[in-house]
Amino acid sequence: MAAIQLKSGVHAVGVKDWERRLFDGLIPLPQGTSYNAYLVQGDSATALIDTVNPGFEGGLMANLNALDATPDYIVMNHAEPDHAGSISCMLEAFPRARVVLSSKGAEMASALYGHPRDRVDTVATGDTLTLGGKTLRFLEAPFVHWPETMLTYLEEDKILFPCDFLGAHTAAGVYADELEDWQTAAKRYFGEIMMPFRRAGQRALQQVEALELDLIAPSHGPIHREPERVLSLYRRWTAGETEPKVAVAYVSMWGATERLVRHLADTLLEQEIQVRLFPLPQTDLGELAAELVDSRAIVLGAPTVLGGLHPAAAYAALLVRALKPPAERAGLLSSYGWAAGAARQAQELLQGSKLEIAGVVEAHGTPQPEHFAQVRQLAEALTRGW
Ligand code: FEO
Repeated sequence: MAAIQLKSGVHAVGVKDWERRLFDGLIPLPQGTSYNAYLVQGDSATALIDTVNPGFEGGLMANLNALDATPDYIVMNHAEPDHAGSISCMLEAFPRARVVLSSKGAEMASALYGHPRDRVDTVATGDTLTLGGKTLRFLEAPFVHWPETMLTYLEEDKILFPCDFLGAHTAAGVYADELEDWQTAAKRYFGEIMMPFRRAGQRALQQVEALELDLIAPSHGPIHREPERVLSLYRRWTAGETEPKVAVAYVSMWGATERLVRHLADTLLEQEIQVRLFPLPQTDLGELAAELVDSRAIVLGAPTVLGGLHPAAAYAALLVRALKPPAERAGLLSSYGWAAGAARQAQELLQGSKLEIAGVVEAHGTPQPEHFAQVRQLAEALTRGW
């Protein structure tokens, strides 16, 4: 992608990765992603804000060369390799450039990349870097989503560079207001990456809301020319505001668990409660993560296989525990042919998730009328008080 001018002396110089389909070996990327980097050229100095995933240095260098840019500073907002992994290459290409990062970032950069200590400058919240008519102000924002993360604000142009925060995994487009589905991409990104850090997200948001903003330019996905649109979403998501709806993740071998799941869905729909089913073997886990952002209850359905919880459901339970969704209640639906085990193991895996188990329905063989009655009771327990 060629460099794009955002304002006078400010360019997007990052790259698109249309083909990447998985991030961290965990997160599906149906629309690829982008590694956005930004160049700020002042009267006396030039700063590059974040870099790109290793392997994409050529695209970044081509954009810098096209702008005849020689960065004096490389701002490392975040140490993860998709943004910081090409800093070593930039230090080699620009021998006078210095890396600007948080003190925690310096520790992590040393461990991950071994940057020379004499080329690193640490900054803290409120520190500024003057480039001549362009002033960068730094705001530490730990745990959005690593401990060293910081945000960079360009005062004169009112542009925030928040790295991962407020981003989206999609290679499409340049500006969010040009993309029909950027909110969908932003929501699944929040669910996958920021949801476990909602408190930290709220603290970061407070800092952001104190700034005058014309643009928010994150390091993944589109740039926001209407900052309030993404900020209003993050206000709700970081606060853990939920909707009266139930997310059901399930796997069934011979249909018994699925019959319980469908009876639950029918019961909830009769009560005009929104419900979404996620058959785990076919589910894009990013869609499930997005639904967990604002679902008020979660149900896991799985049979016992080989003496324990079906592995697809075990993976989903571990994912729920790791992502820390704001739902307060959970239900379990299970079936078995020889001996029970799945429901017990699911409860063990969900321990520590803060989810209250509102009910467990476990059928031996084909579900009978008493199991369907228990499912209706579970629906009531899950939605009590909504
Ligand atoms: Fe986009 Fe946390 O890296």
